[in-house]
Amino acid sequence: MNTAIRAVVRTGLANGLRVHGIRRAYEGLVAGEIHELGARDVGGILQRGGTVLQTARFPDFAKLEVQRAALARLRESGIDALVAIGGDGTMRGALALHRLGFPVMGVPASIDNDVYGTDISIGVDTALNTILEAIDKLRDTATSHRRAFIVETMGRNCGYLALTSGITSGAEMTLIPEQEASAEEVAEAVRASHERGKTHAIIVVSEGAKLHANALKERLDAMKLGYEFRVTILGHVQRGGHPSAWDRLIAARFGVAAVERLLRGERGAMVGLRAREVVAVPMEEAGTRQRAPDMEYYRMARMLAK
Ligand code: F6P
Repeated sequence: MNTAIRAVVRTGLANGLRVHGIRRAYEGLVAGEIHELGARDVGGILQRGGTVLQTARFPDFAKLEVQRAALARLRESGIDALVAIGGDGTMRGALALHRLGFPVMGVPASIDNDVYGTDISIGVDTALNTILEAIDKLRDTATSHRRAFIVETMGRNCGYLALTSGITSGAEMTLIPEQEASAEEVAEAVRASHERGKTHAIIVVSEGAKLHANALKERLDAMKLGYEFRVTILGHVQRGGHPSAWDRLIAARFGVAAVERLLRGERGAMVGLRAREVVAVPMEEAGTRQRAPDMEYYRMARMLAK
């Protein structure tokens, strides 16, 4: 998120705007925690996790009178448009302000990857890398001690982190909120992999899956599969740490796009990235043509280096 904040500030300044940061999200907005930011205020932050503006969960923002109070704060601070960086709750708040007539542009940021309309949100890739690092380490014990690990990932009601970490860590089975699976199915996957010669097992369970990690362990232990099962709940470590290169790149792109779209007069929208599909490129093209240079990145790189 810090890379996005830096990009918003510096794109705004490059376009002759004054930019303010709001501390502690909508709660801070209502409390009037609004401060002007210069280019140097956002220097040296892009490699840091979390957000220098801090954040807050603020359920009260669902109330119309609280939204109106926020609107009044924005107007009295002379703010013409808001870039709201966050997850689905942030987008609901931004929608409320949009419906009250205030220009908003959303930037998706949530490790859960559950924000509608974008393939990926800021933070997902870093969280996924943290999960992989943890599973790789657990695998060392698993292979040496012939153990089976049940690893619980975050994600709220979205199985994305569990699925992608399951695929990229080589897990035997992945349990997600969107698709029910029984302990018997997991046992079957563990047995089958054992028959193929594997002497350890990794099961990834999303925190929102119906069958929770600890309940699954109890069920699997009772089936006497020949493994000792251990549960590791990764928890909030997934939300911190140095952002990955990919996260910084999309955060910069989203931040730049949010400001430039507002300047073009777009309102009431969220920037996002869309290209989910794997495609087949004709070999006549792949074997003869040149990839277009990344001149948009060149422009961004110059604008953000302040
Ligand atoms: O939405 C991000 C997230 O980390 C979820 O994956 C998780 O369920 C939740 O937030 C944890 O929130 P809290 O720290 O408020 O318990």
